Amino acid sequence: MSNNIRPENMARITTPALADQFISEQIDALRAQIGDSKVLLALSGGVDSSVVAALLIRAVGRQLTCVHVNHGLLRKGEPEQVIEVFRNQLNANLIYVDAVDRFLDKLAGVSDPEQKRKIIGKEFIDVFAEEAKKLDGIRFLAQGTIYPDIVESKGVKAHHNVGGLPEELNFELVEPVKLLYKDEVRMVGKQLGLPDGMVYRQPFPGPGLGVRCTGAITRDRLEAVRESDAILREEFAKAGLEGRVWQYFTVVPDMRSTGITDGKRTWNWPVIIRAVNSVDATSATVEEIPYSLLLKIRDRIFREVKGVNRVLYDLSCKEPATIEYE
Ligand code: XMP
Repeated sequence: MSNNIRPENMARITTPALADQFISEQIDALRAQIGDSKVLLALSGGVDSSVVAALLIRAVGRQLTCVHVNHGLLRKGEPEQVIEVFRNQLNANLIYVDAVDRFLDKLAGVSDPEQKRKIIGKEFIDVFAEEAKKLDGIRFLAQGTIYPDIVESKGVKAHHNVGGLPEELNFELVEPVKLLYKDEVRMVGKQLGLPDGMVYRQPFPGPGLGVRCTGAITRDRLEAVRESDAILREEFAKAGLEGRVWQYFTVVPDMRSTGITDGKRTWNWPVIIRAVNSVDATSATVEEIPYSLLLKIRDRIFREVKGVNRVLYDLSCKEPATIEYE
């Protein structure tokens, strides 16, 4: 499809002024496309869907309904940030769906990574479709498709994609950033006034923390992933590494080992720290984190995260490892 190909003479958005120009052109184009119809958007809180939401709010205000599904696999503070930014600051029409129990109940006892991904993807579509059916008169579905999604996967967005909706929900697509590269989307987001924490967010997989709580997900181990990830992110930010290291996170594998606390034997999990640099995720090198910072993170994890008796640092590059653990 020709409108899915970035014209060779399309200027790269490299300055705030060019981002402003893109924003004003898109607002006109969105108003022309949408008229007085209603639009629906699955808002994950990632940079792409957040930028699309902010553009649509400027263009058509409350004709946009955003649906934020909390599947229980989000990072600490993410659902709260989506509500704060979009509902409280931007006055968006935001439906927040607490689907945590529903997802975690479906995932209970499932250890196969592909099966876990399938369940998360299917459940997400089901929850979103249920919300969509409750709304009257929606004509358009907005998506945060960006240019690499089109180039790499022929337009099928792996992580935000709500394609696969039931036939009766046959919406027309609105994809205002589909010809932009990630750095351009970030520049547009910055100009739209989104917080830096959203604009410069590191890549986060669609199945969320689910792929970092390996094997069958349990609520307590998931909590250990979420809490240790929050500590890692906080300490990286304090050390000035935020936005400088490509992707960093913790993993709590489905494995226990012996330990000792107050003279008593424990049988607990390790937390693995992973911090990698990459350009396009096809290969990755390991970030050389200062040893003192690693020790600080270790101490906080031992103090603040329940059920953990070891902290490990992953030295593996891609290849032979992948970035994620599942
Ligand atoms: P791997 O683990 O394959 O990851 O080296 C490469 C990049 O892709 C992200 N990733 C995913 N993103 N759904 C996603 O949306 C997934 O299932 C998924 N698995 C990996 C990963 O975080 C890294 O940035």
